[in-house]
Amino acid sequence: MARSTSSSRNGASDGSRRQRPGASKGSAGKSSASKSSAGWLKEHFDDRFVQQSWQDGYRSRASYKLLALDEKDRLFKPGMSVIDLGAAPGGWSQVAADRVGPEGMVIASDILEMDALAGVEFIQGDFTEEAVLEAILAVLDGRPVDLVMSDMAPNMSGMSAIDQPQAMYLVELALDLARQTLRPGGRFLAKVFQGEGFDAYLKELRESFAKVVTRKPEASRARSREVYLLADGFRG
Ligand SMILES: C[S@@+](CC[C@H](N)C(=O)[O-])C[C@H]1O[C@@H](n2cnc3c(N)ncnc32)[C@H](O)[C@@H]1O
Repeated sequence: MARSTSSSRNGASDGSRRQRPGASKGSAGKSSASKSSAGWLKEHFDDRFVQQSWQDGYRSRASYKLLALDEKDRLFKPGMSVIDLGAAPGGWSQVAADRVGPEGMVIASDILEMDALAGVEFIQGDFTEEAVLEAILAVLDGRPVDLVMSDMAPNMSGMSAIDQPQAMYLVELALDLARQTLRPGGRFLAKVFQGEGFDAYLKELRESFAKVVTRKPEASRARSREVYLLADGFRG
């Protein structure tokens, strides 16, 4: 069953639930046409973060975004409980599992398959489906979470009227999960695309968290409208 968010924005100030935008199954935020193009492949293989990831044994260049955020904002400590949404192929989960160590917990989820990682509990499924939310809550078994991260991105069509609502829907659902699972004082990190709905989302974050900052790590391509919002001090 597809989920709706508890957002009260976009005119839904009576608390009514928004409708789910068009299906958002996808991978890494590029259309399949551009992904398969020779130009995209060349850019990908020439990319210094891609090359670095081969050397360092990371599954994706996305690891360097999280490493940079961690260096600046000290995201992780040993023993922390972390949820990683949109985790495949596992670059962020690798970083998180390494940082929280054996006393910590990392629950990762993605619509795509992901090869197993030591110290990471993986749940495969579409995060817009209720069953995935329930599976995550079941694994947590009431354990409060220190950090919820979302790097989810829908498969981009290139038409912002379609892509932006789908992307916002995913981060709304991620925020709903954060509100359900974070301990007071906990943190929420989400990739958000600048465009329609961004300012309202930022406002919503500020209502639930003491402080929100915007980050654009070096590994995030300058032409991409993605930024990372880090919300600190969950009000509970
Ligand atoms: C940029 S990639 C994530 C990269 C990952 N953080 C890493 O470090 O390797 C975005 C991910 O969002 C996932 N995604 C997109 N829509 C989703 C959905 N409805 N449910 C779950 N995952 C979704 C994609 O499958 C993709 O793996």
